[in-house]
Amino acid sequence: MLSTKTFTLKSRLLLLALVLLSAIKGYSQQTRSVADFDRDWRFHLGDVSDGQEVSTTDNNWRKLNLPHDWSIEGEFSKDNPATPEGGALPGGIGWYRKTFTIPAASKGKEVYIDFDGVYQKSDVWVNGHHLGFRPNGYISFRYELTPYLKYGQPNVIAVKVDNSSQPNSRWYSGSGIYRNVWLVTTNKVAIDHWGTFISTPKVSKNEATVNMQVKLHNASGKPQQATVTTAIYDAAGKLLKTVTNNVNIVDSSATATQQAKVLAPMLWSDVHPYLYKAITKVSLGKTLTDIYTTNFGIRYFDFDVDKGFSINGVSVKLRGVCDHHDLGSLGAAINYRALQRQLEILKDMGCNAIRTSHNPPAPELLDLCDKMGFFVMDEAFDVWERAKKKYDYSLFFKEWHKRDLEDQILRDRNHPSVIVWSIGNEIPEQRRPIAADIAKELAGIIHNLDRTRPITTANNNPDTSNKIISSGAIDLAGYNYHYKDYPTFQQRYPGKKFIGTETTSALETRGYYDMPPNIDSIRRWPVKNNYNDHVNMNPDNTVSAYDNVSAPWASTHEESWKPIKKYPFLSGMFIWTGFDYLGEPTPYTWPSRSSYFGIIDLAGFPKDVYYMYQSEWTDKTVLHLLPHWNWQTGKTIQVWAYYNHADEVELFLNGKSLGKKAKKGDDLHISWAVPFQPGTLKAISYKDGKTVKVAEIHTAGKPAKIELVADRKTINADGKDLSFITVKILDKDGNLVPNADNKVDFKVNGSAFIASVDNGDPVSHDPFKANYRKAFHGLALAILQSNEKAGNITFTATADGLAPAVLTLQAK
Ligand code: GAL
Repeated sequence: MLSTKTFTLKSRLLLLALVLLSAIKGYSQQTRSVADFDRDWRFHLGDVSDGQEVSTTDNNWRKLNLPHDWSIEGEFSKDNPATPEGGALPGGIGWYRKTFTIPAASKGKEVYIDFDGVYQKSDVWVNGHHLGFRPNGYISFRYELTPYLKYGQPNVIAVKVDNSSQPNSRWYSGSGIYRNVWLVTTNKVAIDHWGTFISTPKVSKNEATVNMQVKLHNASGKPQQATVTTAIYDAAGKLLKTVTNNVNIVDSSATATQQAKVLAPMLWSDVHPYLYKAITKVSLGKTLTDIYTTNFGIRYFDFDVDKGFSINGVSVKLRGVCDHHDLGSLGAAINYRALQRQLEILKDMGCNAIRTSHNPPAPELLDLCDKMGFFVMDEAFDVWERAKKKYDYSLFFKEWHKRDLEDQILRDRNHPSVIVWSIGNEIPEQRRPIAADIAKELAGIIHNLDRTRPITTANNNPDTSNKIISSGAIDLAGYNYHYKDYPTFQQRYPGKKFIGTETTSALETRGYYDMPPNIDSIRRWPVKNNYNDHVNMNPDNTVSAYDNVSAPWASTHEESWKPIKKYPFLSGMFIWTGFDYLGEPTPYTWPSRSSYFGIIDLAGFPKDVYYMYQSEWTDKTVLHLLPHWNWQTGKTIQVWAYYNHADEVELFLNGKSLGKKAKKGDDLHISWAVPFQPGTLKAISYKDGKTVKVAEIHTAGKPAKIELVADRKTINADGKDLSFITVKILDKDGNLVPNADNKVDFKVNGSAFIASVDNGDPVSHDPFKANYRKAFHGLALAILQSNEKAGNITFTATADGLAPAVLTLQAK
């Protein structure tokens, strides 16, 4: 039995714990809440009259969770108004509605809805009140809900998305609320939307100056005396510094300027992406009204006329890629893991920079680049006033460019990864005097908000007729293509700084190889009259995966990288593109519906040239052989090897040496002409006579079995996480069958569903939302998504005539 004394002590402790707990709970309720608002929406494809009215019935609409892209669910057709350039998928109009309840406790608070991106021309209503229209499909925006809300009762948000005016894009845009949505609740006095700005103007080994601007929003209707305290924490969570200011908010807003010194700072870079945290608290007297976290990095960088780019005093080439926003078979619908996987694949190749062509990215991309160590060129526009497509953003530029550009800068300026703002890609007016005026205006808009990063434009006419470069408005002369002019850049533009905003545009189909004599010469494809000609593309729309085919305005991977590598004043390059993307199957030749430009295909499988970059851009020891080894006996096969860390490579066919070869001068690969015999092709690289690495390819027999390889076998049971399963068609000895195109059927049981399937074939019109896929050059992909329930997942792949495969995974 408990003595009274012990009981009293225990109950007191319990009471104390309860008080503390409720204080903590109350504490979080008293300040800001940012809630995921993605669940339980209703969707209707097509226009609806009175879709915004509360009384409209939506319980027969489809129930879904955001992010959502309705185009990716559609059927490919060359007659879709987006055209194959836009991905050949349907656009149209769609409506979304969500019914939600705001607790009575939120009365007196400010409530906002934040959209990370809606493509495009969205109108938003709450309880029948029109909140606004936003034409730009890539910008993040917020509406205030407060005046229209009912507390403790149902409220209805309605969103009309209009992607019916087509074509409006030169690539696949997707349609719908394709990025995340948040419900934000704050007190009347709180930090404003994107209200902090942190910069590090002075950085040395010993000390960094951290400047902070904190913009406060005051909706109380009366002047307020606020206390703003920012605490800086290192990555381990250790408190380093605290700064406090008293701020007199006379009107609806006021900005606190704070400064702190961080001693012996850990510097952020691509190889050391170290992040600090600033936690800002706002109080009115003794009442805490807001807590707001800003992640930031401490770093300095420079673009030098002669020495190119450096980070924290160390010269580094920008080894970048351009990427569009789609996530292959998942479409435009943002998924954190899918983005992270793309960046992991790029990191493994040695890539250290991303250009968000040609629009503001999903905010998650910048978070990932901060964490993983990628430099970012954050781009605003593909057009200004002159159109590229009949219904593109040029229709809205005049009215919206200021607002859109400001919002992009405010949202993105705390990311250490962002090192360049690009205010335009291949702007059609670049040779007209008006371009200088617009460039100056846009640069001015940025300078008002951020003076810590250089500004560029990506110019396809980068010669001296370019009015943007000569305007003085931009800091870096951006070259799209024109690789032959790189070496003489300094003569053309004395005193200016170079950046290869867009390079390469080589084309390849993964796993497909044209044999001699075609491969002996580089093909600018297509070459005849205009770039829509079907010249040199094979009749089945394949393009050889030897790096010897490029768009006519462009160059192969090797041609582009060689000068960038050679000249220190060339700060770096952004290759078009890292990944194949939906749309722009240059030339726009049906039945192709996605691009061939990627170093990695649409499913995420590397093409051979990936290993050229890996051999040049990483410390990994590389020896990669191409092509596959299934040919007609006697046919002469061009064998290529990409390698590093070695002096020479010896090739053997069925044990017989075919000689040693070594790269000479600026060579990036070596090659042999080999009369084909089935068997084993083996390469050994040597350094000082010692073996460095061995690579082997075997002639594969008939398809016999399926192998499944998951990138992750344990995923989060959060309804969002993904496992990417590579499906391989093997012969009986376990060799990948290079031309296998077996149709594979998938079944999933347990805590996941199939989010999409793919194989990287730019010509396939099979749906991405399906439970089957044909292999393409021996490979297919199935993407599993967790369904919010923890437990086992059993994934089965079967195909006629092949031994099936089963994989067990887990959602936790
Ligand atoms: C560039 C353009 C890119 C893409 C690429 C294809 O001119 O900036 O968006 O179209 O060509 O080569």
